[in-house]
Amino acid sequence: MVTGALASLENGAPQVPKHVAIIMDGNGRWATRNGVSRSKGHRKGAEAVREAIEGAINCGVSYLTLYAFSSENWNRPPDEVKDLMGLLHMYLKKEVRTLSKEGVRLQVIGRRDALGRDIRSLIEKAEKDTRQNSRLNLVIALSYGAREEILFACRKIAKEVADGSLSPADIDEHTISKALYTQEIPDPDLIIRTSGEQRLSNFLLWQAAYAELSFLPALWPDFTRQMFADTVLEFQSRDRRYGARP
Ligand code: FPP
Repeated sequence: MVTGALASLENGAPQVPKHVAIIMDGNGRWATRNGVSRSKGHRKGAEAVREAIEGAINCGVSYLTLYAFSSENWNRPPDEVKDLMGLLHMYLKKEVRTLSKEGVRLQVIGRRDALGRDIRSLIEKAEKDTRQNSRLNLVIALSYGAREEILFACRKIAKEVADGSLSPADIDEHTISKALYTQEIPDPDLIIRTSGEQRLSNFLLWQAAYAELSFLPALWPDFTRQMFADTVLEFQSRDRRYGARP
């Protein structure tokens, strides 16, 4: 049972974050601590994704973004990359029907051309099959790197300038936001990272400009919906000033 945050959220407390993004870290350390393979650690990590989804739905969060595989993760040993891709493949194949029944819309951000053809077609199908859902927008960052995302946005905008459809003077923050993978997705209000590490690791760097950050000591496979709710509750006590005076 989830306690605490839910009760106050139901009482109409302000500032339920519209968008929560999570850096799911610590699968490897969980595996070492429990004397099992890294592969098993990632499998347990994939199970914890359910906790995050339930937590988000219970709290009334509209967007949940999960950092599942970074551009830099391609540099891991081939066996581990294969394991992670296998898990993501299985998740897209098996979970989409359940997600759809729950009213979850699935979207994937990241460099699709780096992914295998079968994962790409599963992504396209999942996005198409869940397009009408609106209870929760689940965004999976896959082969995602924020600097690369900004770089691609710059190229897109430069091309429009070069072909004369955009004037440099008309480029503003909105132009850049619209050229990112996240286009229609609002900026995250709260970014959670598990495993005690305190960094963003190339995750949503443009979009995180005013995000609140929360670093939890738990390793990702141990993450629970209660931790999600507690973190949202703590977020509600923060004073977000966006650089202005109180
Ligand atoms: C970081 O742990 C986690 C990852 C690199 C992968 C995250 C993937 C999952 C949670 C599973 C699949 C996801 C979905 C959406 C089905 P780490 O290996 O860097 O851990 P460590 O820092 O302790 O070594």
